[in-house]
Amino acid sequence: MRDPFYTLAIETSCDETAVALLRNQTDLLSNLVYSQAKIHARTGGVVPEVASRDHLRKLPYLVDEALAEAGISLEEISLIAVTYGPGLIGPLLVGLSHGKGMAFGLGVPLIGVNHLEGHLFAHRLHAPHFEPPFMALIVSGGHTSLVAVDAYGSYRSIGATVDDAAGEALDKVGKMMGIDYPAGAEIDRLASLGDPSAIRFPRPTVTAAGFDFSFAGLKTSVLYYLKDHRRQRREDVLASFLESVVDVLATRAVDATRRYHLERLVVVGGVAANTRLRGVLTERAASRGIEVMFPPSALCTDNAAMISAAGAFRYLEMGESHDLSLTAVPGLHLA
Ligand code: KG4
Ligand code: ZN
Repeated sequence: MRDPFYTLAIETSCDETAVALLRNQTDLLSNLVYSQAKIHARTGGVVPEVASRDHLRKLPYLVDEALAEAGISLEEISLIAVTYGPGLIGPLLVGLSHGKGMAFGLGVPLIGVNHLEGHLFAHRLHAPHFEPPFMALIVSGGHTSLVAVDAYGSYRSIGATVDDAAGEALDKVGKMMGIDYPAGAEIDRLASLGDPSAIRFPRPTVTAAGFDFSFAGLKTSVLYYLKDHRRQRREDVLASFLESVVDVLATRAVDATRRYHLERLVVVGGVAANTRLRGVLTERAASRGIEVMFPPSALCTDNAAMISAAGAFRYLEMGESHDLSLTAVPGLHLA
């Protein structure tokens, strides 16, 4: 192994173009994220073709900038890590093709990273000593999953959403209420000004015993509520809706941690940036004797730092790499 070992990582699975540079396994040298949010706000959601073109436009500049910020030359790179799924096929292919080109051109290994495993590694970057086993709640715009992490690289799926992801439900309710895509951060802010007990929205369950999630019905409840209550304060509706999402996530996550006899819970993904979720879950976990950890918000939402950490781990600790035939897998699973 080269010492120091430099991983350059690329993330383009959805609407963030991101590049990071990592020294060894947890020493982050640069972490650049360019969000396409403004472009997609115009259409109220991500148009894949538009996203692909913008990744293509921006990626080379971000790579140069990340190297300059880290003070590393191209020749010093030891590994290229790139997200190859899950995500949108076009955006994934832009990042993957760029990563393959760099690996080939520089004569260094390539490692494809599962975006969901990447989210988990945001935790390892932030708290390398808080090791598995633990329960993980991965809660983002595309996924809502409970995963038992026996070790890094060894996962058991405990529950997942059967319809909308939590972030997707937040974004859709935001759209109904005139908030630009992606709505999560703005809902976070507005809800903090409202009364979470103003309206009692349902707490949807899929089966009483299981750990799956369903948010589509809750979203429809908000839609019907808004039709009948046009004058209700927006902050109160959002606070009450968010309370329902947070209650469901916190209850299932804590119950699953207990059921699987784990003492630790790690929460990652874009929605893990939510202030209310952090507050409620911290309190509930503590009352049940569970230690809960959230990476800083900037590592929760999509970034390439997490991809660099996952890629470096897979290559250095598990001896994995991919050849140039690696292709994008939009529906890639974690477990
Ligand atoms: O992990 P992420 O950046 O992308 C995916 O992999 O999907 O998650 C994006 C999701 C969006 O739905 C966005 O609205 C939500 O995370 N989000 C938040 C917050 N910041 C981003 N949701 C609630 N509160 C936030 N502060
Ligand atoms: Zn993500």
